[in-house]
Parts: sequence; structure tokens; C-alpha cells
Amino acid sequence: MAPLRGVRYPRCMPLADPLPGPPPSAPEEATLIDIRHVSRHYRRGVDEVHALDDVSLRIAPGRFVAFMGPSGSGKSTLMNLVSGLDRPSEGEVVVAGQSLGDLDEDELAAWRARHVGLIFQFFNLIPVLDARDNVALPLLLTDLGKAERHRRAETALRVVGLDHRLDHRPNTLSGGEQQRVAIARAIVTDPDLIVADEPTGDLDAKNAEATLGLLRELTDAFGKTIVMVTHDPRALRFVDEVFHLDKGLLLEGSDAERASEAIRLAAGGHASAGARP
Ligand SMILES: Nc1ncnc2c1ncn2[C@@H]1O[C@H](COP(=O)(O)OP(=O)(O)OP(=O)(O)O)[C@@H](O)[C@H]1O
Ligand SMILES: [Mg+2]
Repeated sequence: MAPLRGVRYPRCMPLADPLPGPPPSAPEEATLIDIRHVSRHYRRGVDEVHALDDVSLRIAPGRFVAFMGPSGSGKSTLMNLVSGLDRPSEGEVVVAGQSLGDLDEDELAAWRARHVGLIFQFFNLIPVLDARDNVALPLLLTDLGKAERHRRAETALRVVGLDHRLDHRPNTLSGGEQQRVAIARAIVTDPDLIVADEPTGDLDAKNAEATLGLLRELTDAFGKTIVMVTHDPRALRFVDEVFHLDKGLLLEGSDAERASEAIRLAAGGHASAGARP
């Protein structure tokens, strides 16, 4: 798919202040996301659920990474901490030098609105709004007027190859198209970080591949950093790196290699992170 070809985005439509992170030409150790000894525990009656236990990892800017692991292993919990939707019980989440724990609720919401684009499994589009208005929704939190909000929404829809569907409501779009509208909504504020929870979970094989390819393009063409939770073994062909979780722990060394091998086998033996089509 080539929806991005010829589209000048997003430098023509800056909205968020750039994150005060390291410059793109910084050495390899550049870090955008720094998860430091993070735990997240939930109390359920008398029990305490350890959704995450002492997880530390780093993600460099402009990378497309996946969190993988069995159901209940803590993937969504970790994703919610990275995107500032939730706070850790212990440890620290630092994004571009900003420790999210230093922000109060209002500051955290403002930080999220400026720097994070969210994509979900079930698209979460508003049924009574057409594609343009769905995509423009995050811009309601800005000072932009309606005409400018629509212009930016149309640009984002052009990026995902859907500028011929501006007036379509979600129920007149295919599943793949709905997910592309949701991706346009995630990028309309020009965020540095895109966070996606099982974006291909409700799509057939063809649309899943197209969605993964589009996310890949967002990193390659526009330098977006993408953190994706997925069960989809096809993802291995598109991402730069996989972090494996199991029972709230981050797998490392030979455990992580074994988990990667199992996913490669599930994908037919041809996939490998970093070896992209
Ligand atoms: N709000 C909550 N209250 C109590 N327990 C929770 C809560 N949210 C998550 N958990 C528990 O934390 C663990 C990790 O949940 P999480 O949603 O992160 O898993 P996951 O890896 O995303 O799973 P799936 O692949 O099924 O989406 C699970 O045991 C879950 O039941
Ligand atoms: Mg989940």
C-alpha cells in the first residue's frame, strides 16, 4: 500500500510542541521511553494481583516496538503506563526526560493530549460522526477553529489513504477502513508517540497486514515512535524489536529468544523482528 507517497505530513501541520528529547542524530543509546523498575499491583478483595513486577526497559526514538505475551501477562497494563493512562505502584516512567510521576492529573492529561496518539482494537469511533469529524475529535482540546480542525483531519485521512471517504460514517466503512480512520485520529495532533493495543485484533489477514504496514510507514516516513501490544505473529515482520512479557515479568536472554522463536514458528518460520518486507 502506498497511501503516504506524495503526502507532506506531518511537518506541514505541527501542533504539539516537539518533545524535548535527544536530537534524531543522537548516538545509539538515545532513549525516548525509559521504564525504570516499574510494578503495578491491583487489590482484588484480599488478594493482590501483580500485573507487572519490576519491569525495566528502554525504547529509542523512531522505533516501532511490540509488547507480546500470553493473555493476562501485563501487556495492556504496561502500555497504559507508557501512555500515561495509568500510574505505576512502584518505579518510574520517563518519556523524553519527563518523569510522568511528577505530573498531577491535569498536567498528565495535557501531556497525553499533546504527545500521545492512541489506537485500540475495536477502533472506538463515534457512530454518528463521519470520518472527518471522528478524526478531528482530539483537536477539540485545542484552540483551533473548525475549518483548521477539518483541514488537519483531511490531511491525516490522506496520510492513511482515506481522503475519498471523508463523509462516510463508520458503519459504511470496512473494518480495515475503520482502523485507518482510527489511525488518522491518533496522528491528527502530530504526536511523537503512538500507542496501539491490539490494532489488528479485529481485522482479517489482509487488513492486518495493511495496518501493520501503515504503522511501519509512520515510523519510516515521519519518525514516529510506536509501541504496540499484539498477539499477531505477523507483527514480527514489521517491528524493530519485541519485548516479551509473561506473568508480569519481562523475559530476557534465552527466555526472550525462546519466546521469539515460538512466535516465528507460529508465523510460518519466515518472520523476524527487524527483517521487514
Ligand atoms: N483494573 C484491574 N483490577 C484488577 N486486576 C487487573 C486490572 N487490570 C488488569 N488486571 C489484571 O492484571 C493482569 C494483567 O492484565 P493485562 O490487561 O495487562 O493483560 P494483557 O497481557 O493485556 O492480557 P490480554 O492479552 O488478555 O489483553 C491480569 O491478571 C488482569 O486480570
Ligand atoms: Mg490486553
